[in-house]
This record gives sequence, C-alpha cells and structure tokens, in this order.
Amino acid sequence: MDDLETLAEAIRNADTAAVLTGAGVSAPSGIPTFRGDDGVWERFDEGQFTEGRFRSDPAGFWVDRLELQEAMFGGDYEPNPAHEALAALERDGHLEAVLTQNTDGLHADAAAAVRGDDVDEPRVETADSVLELHGNARRVRCADCGRRRPADPILERAADGDLPPTCDCGGVYKPDVVLFGGQLPGAVIQRARSLARESDAFLAIGSSLAVEPAASLPRRASSSGATVGIVNLESTPCDDAADVVRREGVTEALPRLRELVVEG
Ligand code: NAD
Ligand code: APR
Repeated sequence: MDDLETLAEAIRNADTAAVLTGAGVSAPSGIPTFRGDDGVWERFDEGQFTEGRFRSDPAGFWVDRLELQEAMFGGDYEPNPAHEALAALERDGHLEAVLTQNTDGLHADAAAAVRGDDVDEPRVETADSVLELHGNARRVRCADCGRRRPADPILERAADGDLPPTCDCGGVYKPDVVLFGGQLPGAVIQRARSLARESDAFLAIGSSLAVEPAASLPRRASSSGATVGIVNLESTPCDDAADVVRREGVTEALPRLRELVVEG
C-alpha cells in the first residue's frame, strides 16, 4: 500500500476526519503564500499588520492593508482541483470539516460549487463545513459595534482616501481577519481543537505550520490517536508527528487522494 492509499484508507475508516489547510492550497490558484521566496512576508513587513498597529495608527494600517490586499487578492482567482477535491470529500460525508488558515474564501466557493450553487459572485458567507480560523478577507468588521459587511465597498472607500473607513456607529472598520497579536475567536479555536482531538484521520496540507495555534493541531490529533498526514512542498515542524508525509503539490495529491477514497 502506498502512503496516499494509507491516508485514503484512514479517511474511509474514520468516524471523524478533518483537514487543516494553509496558503499552499491557494498557491495554485495564483494567490501568493506568506513565507518562502515569493511569499508576501518577503515583500511586506509583518510588523505593520498587527493588532497594535491597527489600534494606534488605523489610517496607516489601512494604507498598507490595501497594498497587501492587492498583492494577495488583486488578480482573478478561483478554486483549484485541491479545493474541489476537499469540497467533494466533505459533501460525500468523508470529511467532517475543512479547517483553514486562509482568508480568501475559496473553500467556501468550492463547497458551494460542488453543491451546484451559483458562485458567479464571490461569497462573503462562510460555509458550515469550513472553519475559517483566521477569518475572511472578503469581509470587514466594525471594531466597535462588531457589524460585518462585504469588504469591497469599504476597500474602495479607503482607496479613495476615506481613511480609516468607519462604520455608521463611528467605529473603525477592520478586515475581518485575525491580525498578528490578536486572538482567534474562542469558539472557533475550541471547535478546531475538539475536531483535532476527535479525528481518526487528520491531514495538514499546504501549510508551513509556523503560526500558532493552528500549527499545534496536527500534533494534538496525533496524540489523540489519529492517523496524521502532511502534504506540503517542503518540510514542516510537525513532520515527525505524522504517519505519512508527502512532499508533493496539493493539486496532484488531493484529487488522487479523493479517487482512492471513493474507489476503495
Ligand atoms: P505568535 O506567532 O506567537 O502567535 C500568533 C498569534 O496571532 C496567535 O495569538 C494567533 O492566534 C494569532 N493569529 C491568528 N491568526 C493569525 C494570522 N492569520 N496570522 C498571524 N497570526 C495569527 O505571535 P504573537 O503572539 O503576535 O507574537 C509572539 C512572538 O512572535 C513575538 O515575540 C513576536 O516577536 C513574534 N512574531 C511577531 C509577528 C509580528 O509582529 N507580526 C509575527 C510573528 C511572530
Ligand atoms: N502544494 C503543496 N504545498 C505547497 C504548494 C503546493 N502547490 N505551494 C506552496 N506550498 C507550501 C509551501 O511549501 C509552504 O510550506 O505551502 C506552505 C505555505 O506556508 P505559508 O506561506 O507559511 O502559509 P500558512 O502556513 O498558511 O501561513 C499561516 O501565517 O502570516 C500568517 O495569516 C497568515 O494564515 C497565515 C499563517
């Protein structure tokens, strides 16, 4: 049995199976990763995108955020075969959830597409089967009253010089994402940890596993007895805890994995 077959069998036999994804899953869709030679943190200073910067200098934060947003999401992008394979596995009952560190909304698009929903417009809603650990950049949220809105009109206002963009209540809008130094919503990280603990099969794909608390989920799953698989182009700090490590592109590995799960 090769190692993808091992993972396919673990998923087939699992009562609960879950997948954690990172920027590598969206790289084949044309969205840059964070780390590595072409990563956005090579071109931008991470220190400018902190919770503290947003609070102390919201207008300056927004100027830099617009540039980051353009670098990441400025092109046309859509789900790739890795998103689609995961969405189909979830739709067919093989996966409980996709836990993602990505804020691009592509897992939700793929989940809608495999269900035959209209995805002409970028969705701002999160699908139930997708747990967005770091939020969703297609939305903004008022830092005071908590109101959420689609990001595009607010980004346009900011680009036109309305800085920082504010809500009717007077509070400043913030991208609806978790910034460095910010906390993941308690309910979200609790659900992610429970899923990792309950999973009989747990995959981490396209993530450097460098940012906590997501980075600890594979080890948590392994300690609770899950078969753990990692698919990534380079090594990760969790490779030693994994049963299977595939040094392979996600768009090659995931469609094949799905075939093996379905054929089995
Ligand atoms: P950390 O790496 O220890 O923890 C990251 C924190 O950010 C966690 O609270 C995590 O929940 C949260 N987070 C959630 N979503 C995130 C996302 N999408 N991107 C990034 N972070 C996300 O970082 P920290 O608590 O900010 O700092 C701890 C140490 O790490 C510090 O000593 C700092 O120097 C260093 N660090 C700083 C930065 C930065 O300033 N931008 C970035 C990484 C690490
Ligand atoms: N197939 C498989 N792996 C890939 C592919 C691919 N086609 N393309 C890139 N990768 C791998 C890279 O080798 C890298 O290890 O994906 C990984 C992406 O890692 P990061 O850029 O660090 O992204 P991620 O792990 O999602 O970052 C976590 O850090 O700054 C924060 O908010 C940011 O959510 C993000 C978090």
